[in-house]
Amino acid sequence: MKIGIIGAGNIGGNLTRRLAALGHDVSVANSRGPHTLTALAEETGATPVAVEEAARGAEVVVVTIPLNAIPDLPDGLFAEAADGVAVIDTGNYYPQRDGRIAEILDEGLTESRWTERHIGHPVVKAFNGTYAADILDRPRPAGAPDRMALPVAGDDEAAKAKVRALIDELGFDTVDAGGIDESWRQQPATPVYGLRDGVDGVTKALAEASPERTPEFTA
Ligand SMILES: NC(=O)c1ccc[n+]([C@@H]2O[C@H](COP(=O)([O-])OP(=O)(O)OC[C@H]3O[C@@H](n4cnc5c(N)ncnc54)[C@H](OP(=O)(O)O)[C@@H]3O)[C@@H](O)[C@H]2O)c1
Repeated sequence: MKIGIIGAGNIGGNLTRRLAALGHDVSVANSRGPHTLTALAEETGATPVAVEEAARGAEVVVVTIPLNAIPDLPDGLFAEAADGVAVIDTGNYYPQRDGRIAEILDEGLTESRWTERHIGHPVVKAFNGTYAADILDRPRPAGAPDRMALPVAGDDEAAKAKVRALIDELGFDTVDAGGIDESWRQQPATPVYGLRDGVDGVTKALAEASPERTPEFTA
């Protein structure tokens, strides 16, 4: 599958490594340009590209940059993506890092809905509560007793199914966490955030979440 990854840091770098190793055709971009990604390209076989090119022809695009950089992404980013492209949002809002965002803090917009509005495309929220190292260290075959499950939220059922199948291929179970308006259930400081557990534990943690932001995540 042709996959574009925007952001080559902790999460983007490790997704590049694993998805390329699985045989996918991976293009990867950062803010400084493709010439700064030669080491990652040599290591993985992924193609370094400019941000504007990352989604071209892609069936899946991963947006994995700090939330405060989302408004800097170019307009029309997905114009040349494949039909039905699934856009994965791994982002989290940390007010201390990202600054005060009234739509999230005062109006109660979920973090992924805010991101959707900026990038102009629906997203599937996944990996946001997953430690980057776990992407490399914790894949397990289907049915393994210690296989971790990741929550996945999104309004586009076809895109969500595509993302869940890809995560299964990466070595993790998934739990359908509902639509983007409900995706507060997997935001920072919720029980599922950073949880290393299987389907039952993740399902329970999602059910126990509260929409109230904890003081740590208000500003
Ligand atoms: N770290 C984790 O374990 C973890 C886990 C789950 C979710 N997350 C979330 O996932 C997101 C990414 O986290 P991370 O830890 O992977 O970040 P990171 O290590 O800081 O890497 C950020 C990447 O985004 C790129 N970037 C920044 N602004 C950009 C722009 N305008 N256009 C294109 N690329 C841009 C950076 O490129 P340059 O280096 O060239 O600036 C860098 O490659 C965050 O929202 C974070 O909260 C992180």
